[in-house]
Amino acid sequence: MRKLLRYAHPEVTYRISHKVLSLLSKGLHLNKDEKAKAEKLTLPSKLFNIRLDIPVGTGAGIDKDGDLAKLYLTLCGFHTVGSILLHPRPGNPHPRLYRYPEALSMINAMGLPSRGISYVIKNLLQIPERYVVIANIAGFTTEEFVILAKVLSRIDCVKVIELNISCPQYKNINLHEPRFLEDLLQRVREVTRKPILVKISPRMHVFLRDIVRVCEKFSNVGLTIANSFPVKAEFMSSGIGGVSGILIYRLMRKLVEIVRKISDIVVVACGGVFYGEQVYELLTRFNVSAVQVVTAIAYEGPFALVRIIRELEAVVESR
Ligand SMILES: Cc1cc2nc3c(=O)[nH]c(=O)nc-3n(C[C@H](O)[C@H](O)[C@H](O)COP(=O)(O)O)c2cc1C
Repeated sequence: MRKLLRYAHPEVTYRISHKVLSLLSKGLHLNKDEKAKAEKLTLPSKLFNIRLDIPVGTGAGIDKDGDLAKLYLTLCGFHTVGSILLHPRPGNPHPRLYRYPEALSMINAMGLPSRGISYVIKNLLQIPERYVVIANIAGFTTEEFVILAKVLSRIDCVKVIELNISCPQYKNINLHEPRFLEDLLQRVREVTRKPILVKISPRMHVFLRDIVRVCEKFSNVGLTIANSFPVKAEFMSSGIGGVSGILIYRLMRKLVEIVRKISDIVVVACGGVFYGEQVYELLTRFNVSAVQVVTAIAYEGPFALVRIIRELEAVVESR
């Protein structure tokens, strides 16, 4: 089954698995009071002021519209929904996904497909308050980010707003530009008290210090490091794609290390995490608050999370 998932056409497996998992997820009933299964894990963590029973969860792209939220929330410590857009958007035409199984990596040029905020809200309202959902939002104007943040922060299970300023498909707009980012954070902060994560591109090493300084001006603002790595991809419909998976792991870790040298800002690590040992290192050596997983799930399905959490438990117990 794993081999099939690894080598089958990525668009086909993406669609079929999403359909099946979404049906499964819809059938689940989350108990309001039930504690998370893996609470026994000996490495609980804090994301801002939020206690995470398990510091491992999904990253954006696994569940763009919240259809799979119930399922993933039973498997891991938190679930990221998005990128959520204000209005429905089809995304780029195919081909928009390409796999490199030998390198456990892929290129995607999804182009921010979304069913729009109204659809996502209906899914999120079904999640009890005790669960931790990160709402990852994307927009093409500051106003779009502000409206999305305002609406989503009213939903109980949404504990953190993540600003996707780094989608390779933004093409000619640079949302990392420090003055723009400061204005964006100011305007989003006016409409929400919830913690904010700024999700940056792994190419932003040039601006990294400035970005950190801008985030530090605000309370409860941290970084998600990082989005996929933008590359030219002429075989994709959009001509540009984002590399994810093992190929970007070392770069992600380097960026986290640079940030840690200059700041104790909250950091969520994302990029090429496939193994419990990696999570352990990120938590203990670089003091990240949580780790998001995407490409490993694209290759192995939701059980990638179960495996990674088990491996993490084993590492914790062995130290
Ligand atoms: C198919 C796919 C879709 C993605 N969609 C989004 C998205 O909508 N918003 C976003 O912020 N990141 C998105 N990402 C980037 C991931 O959240 C993550 O930052 C990146 O893939 C690196 O992590 P990974 O190596 O574990 O996949 C997507 C990644 C993939 C592979």
